[in-house]
Amino acid sequence: MSVADRVPGVSEYGSVDPAPPSKLADVTSLRSILVDENQKMFQRMRSVFSLRNMRTDEAALALCDGFSSKSALLRHEIAYVLGQMQNPSAVEKLIQVLRDEDEHVMVRHEAAEALGAIGDRRAVSILSEFLDDEQPEISESCEVALDLLALCSSDENIDW
Ligand SMILES: [Fe+2]
Repeated sequence: MSVADRVPGVSEYGSVDPAPPSKLADVTSLRSILVDENQKMFQRMRSVFSLRNMRTDEAALALCDGFSSKSALLRHEIAYVLGQMQNPSAVEKLIQVLRDEDEHVMVRHEAAEALGAIGDRRAVSILSEFLDDEQPEISESCEVALDLLALCSSDENIDW
């Protein structure tokens, strides 16, 4: 068996993730690994993907707690999977992340795209607010997210 045969394949979301989901099945344990700065990044990522795969409000909120992590890479991954989950429980936290001008630009970019993917109208005003942001990663992500929200709320039949 080659190494290529052993790496994880496509996730249930259609993405190829950088780490396989953890085998742990309870939110509390997964959350504690996620927020533990002493855990290896690989294990923290595995918790991210397990929580995402649970598809519950509780799991989405546990992922939101991971935004306290020191690692911008991990925070970026969390924002990305919250977009995949499309769970409205994460909207308020994602709005906070996008609004935080001290946050890393790539984390804010993923937060904006996640807000578009979730499709909750509560995000419209903040996305509009940053539409002219001087950082193109922010302004362009907000533009894409607003267009997605508009498309999803239009009466037209969506032909993806
Ligand atoms: Fe991205």
